[in-house]
Amino acid sequence: MAIKHFLQVSDFTLDEFEYVIERTRIIKRKFKNYETYHPLLDRTLVMVFEKNSTRTRLSFEAGMQQLGGAAIYLNTRDSQLGRGEPVEDAAQVMSRMCDIIMVRTFGQDIIDRFAKHSRVPVINGLTNEHHPCQVLADVFTYIEHRGSIKGKTVAWIGDANNMLYSWLQAAQVFGFHVNVSTPKGYEIDQSLVTPGNSNFTVFANPSDACVGADLVTTDVWTSMGYEEENAARLKAFDGWIVDGAKMQRANADALFMHCLPAHRGEEVAAEVIDGPQSVVWDEAENRLHVQKALLEYLV
Ligand code: CP
Repeated sequence: MAIKHFLQVSDFTLDEFEYVIERTRIIKRKFKNYETYHPLLDRTLVMVFEKNSTRTRLSFEAGMQQLGGAAIYLNTRDSQLGRGEPVEDAAQVMSRMCDIIMVRTFGQDIIDRFAKHSRVPVINGLTNEHHPCQVLADVFTYIEHRGSIKGKTVAWIGDANNMLYSWLQAAQVFGFHVNVSTPKGYEIDQSLVTPGNSNFTVFANPSDACVGADLVTTDVWTSMGYEEENAARLKAFDGWIVDGAKMQRANADALFMHCLPAHRGEEVAAEVIDGPQSVVWDEAENRLHVQKALLEYLV
């Protein structure tokens, strides 16, 4: 039987997402009720981090522990991973010792090669191109607050990054639309858009992209690994901050999301992220719950 991986949003069908979302509701309820639930007793997750993390590490590690299993953290400093061992070899070895693997790395090609040589499911914990676990949490958070996301409009304000590409794939699967506004020089790379995806519209002006939106979302402007470009980015992104004026253009019941970490006064104004439309703390917490459902499903 083919091994099921979660390397990008398009790896799952709508039926699979609906199953995982339903399981998330149940697993979250158990967590809130302090109910012991150990479907992954004696199972082991290995987490490979080539880039830093707070939320992803914490949610996978805590989640695996809460499901009765164990999580092992590996990074490139304290293992052989940063010393030239081929990812194909690392995948073979890890997948003979563990039941599931999460990888945070640079290029999607690396995780694709890793998955090809793994005997167990591999989850993408972020690559330069995709961040499917975060978008799963975001979609779940939207559904929790507002019901179905089908037919809704999501405004993406910021550069074309891994979150945007995952949102574009999710729009195709769940049947919603994305209004995209990226600064000049940070536009969508068409090679990362699924052919035939017509579920998005590009706007030159970020305020226009917010008109009629049910959800406005952005991300940190300085992505991991691009810190040296910070000054140039801040200049290019002038005017792209999600502030109260932009939220006013969205629907009255629009939500605001940010996958965090956030920089108040850069990509988002404090009045928005700390305001009544913001659901960023639920969004962050839901990483834990959706990933527990994902781990249960894949293992
Ligand atoms: N949102 C997110 O992936 O956070 P971390 O980089 O802290 O894992």
